[in-house]
Amino acid sequence: MKPLVIAQITDCHLQNDPQQGYRGLDVEQHLDLVVDDLLQQSETIDMILWTGDLVHHGAVRGYQRLSERISKLPIPSFWIPGNHDDAELMQRIGDQAEGSLNQRVVQANDWAIILLDSTSEPDGQGGGSLAQCELDFLQQQLRALSDLSCLIVLHHNPVPVESDWQDQIMLGNAEAFWQLLAAHENVRGVINGHVHQSKDSDINGVRVMMTPATSVQFKIGCSQFALEDHSALQAPAYRLLQLFSGGQIATSVKRVAG
Ligand SMILES: [Fe+2]
Repeated sequence: MKPLVIAQITDCHLQNDPQQGYRGLDVEQHLDLVVDDLLQQSETIDMILWTGDLVHHGAVRGYQRLSERISKLPIPSFWIPGNHDDAELMQRIGDQAEGSLNQRVVQANDWAIILLDSTSEPDGQGGGSLAQCELDFLQQQLRALSDLSCLIVLHHNPVPVESDWQDQIMLGNAEAFWQLLAAHENVRGVINGHVHQSKDSDINGVRVMMTPATSVQFKIGCSQFALEDHSALQAPAYRLLQLFSGGQIATSVKRVAG
């Protein structure tokens, strides 16, 4: 069986006004570079996961322009909110759009993709948590899908990245998340956005993959906020995943040159 191929796009931070960048960067142009790159390989990609902070401060016109791009891509897309999104607005837009943007569980081959909303209990600094109803939902799904390999998708990172300022705004109830996962052997991987940088680690047999943004990248290993200053790492990026029958994952980050 051919592997299931997934593209993860994250942290686009589109503004209401397309002329207004984010931290001095033309985020519209950067997202277009990624979308154009995916268009060139659309026949080989089975689905796209948009993992939050898709707009900045819930910018409604940002969602309109994002929806236009999503409808241009001939690949099924699914999205979740990040701390900068308006989750209720996304729900409404997703319900009205073509396709199944708001779908929470996607089954393909012998895999299940479970999408979660980690924007509960915002701390005002960017942090967020999984509401109890999200944890309950995850529990139910992992039980019901115990014969499938599972990939869990959320915005906030469930493990630290060793940047002090970012580790203060990671998933607020990561402990409860990992306790729940420990009771289920079918979880193979977790992907998140939020950190604007790449990280790939193994946590008790679960592969945790973090992905750079299509917008600005954050510098790795900093006590205080800092933008990436290495030019090769500043490019807009996305992650490709190959999910194999049997539960193996192959993955890479693609940085798209301007
Ligand atoms: Fe972000």
